[in-house]
Amino acid sequence: MIGVFDSGVGGLTVLRGFLKDHPEYDYIYLGDNANVPYGNKSMETIYNYTVKAVDFLYSQNCKLIIIACNSASAQALRKIQQEYLPVKYPGLKVLGVVRPIAEEIARLKNIERVGIIGTKATINSDVYGKEIRNLDRDLEVFQKATPLLVSLIEENWLKKPETKMILKKYLRKLKVKKVEALVLACTHYPFLLKDIKRIMGKNCQVLDTEKIISDSLLSYLNRHPELGIEKKMNPQLKFYATDNVEKFKELGEFFLGREMEDIQKVVL
Ligand code: DGL
Repeated sequence: MIGVFDSGVGGLTVLRGFLKDHPEYDYIYLGDNANVPYGNKSMETIYNYTVKAVDFLYSQNCKLIIIACNSASAQALRKIQQEYLPVKYPGLKVLGVVRPIAEEIARLKNIERVGIIGTKATINSDVYGKEIRNLDRDLEVFQKATPLLVSLIEENWLKKPETKMILKKYLRKLKVKKVEALVLACTHYPFLLKDIKRIMGKNCQVLDTEKIISDSLLSYLNRHPELGIEKKMNPQLKFYATDNVEKFKELGEFFLGREMEDIQKVVL
C-alpha cells in the first residue's frame, strides 16, 4: 500500500499521475481538508499536521508515504525523515516532491536561471533553492510566492480575466529575470499550465511535475524491493478526508479527473 498525503484535494494531481502511469499498485489518499490551506501556515503547525497524517497512513499499513503537498514537503519532511521516523518507524520511508524536481532541473542542459512559484510556506522555506544549488552550484534560482492562486483554482476561476491578470503580475518578476525553466511548486498550479506557458513565452520551459514525480516513484519502487510493495491484479484505491466528504468528493473529482468511490472521513 502506498500512502499519498496532501493538505486537501491538491495532491490528487500527483495521485492522478501515479494512477495513469502505475495503476497496478494499492493507494490510499489522505486529504487534510479540515486544515487546508497549509500554504499560509507556520512550520510548527504544518509539521504537527503532517506527523498526524503519517501516523494515520502507517496505521493503514502503508509501506511508503509520498507527501504530495509542496508546503508540507517544504516545511515538515526533513524533520520527519531525520527525527520522527528513526524513533517511531525505523525502516519506513516518507518521500516528498521537492527532490525529484530538483534533480530534474539539475539534469536540464543549457540553462542558467530557474524560476519557482509556490505557496508562501514553500517559497519562504527556500527548499527548492537549497536542493537545486546543492546539485548545481551554477544555477541561479528566482522564487515568487503566488498565494492567491490556490483559492482561484479551487473556486474554478481558471478562465476569468482576473485570474489571468493576477498570474501575469505574479510571473512578471520571473519573466524579467529571463528564467529558462519554471517549476510549478504547488499541487494546484498544473490547472493554469496553459496560461503560465503563454505568459512565460517559448524561451522558458515549464516542467511537467506530475510526470517527474510519477517517474521518480517507479524508480524508487524498483530500487527498493525490500519494501514489499507489489503490483496487484485488483489494486485498491481508498480516499480519506478529515472534513466534509461531499465537498472533498466534488472538488476532488475535478482534480483527479475521475470518479472517487471509496471516501471515508477520519479524525486525526
Ligand atoms: N497542497 C498545497 C501545496 O502544494 C497547496 C494548498 C495549501 O496551501 O494547502 O503547497
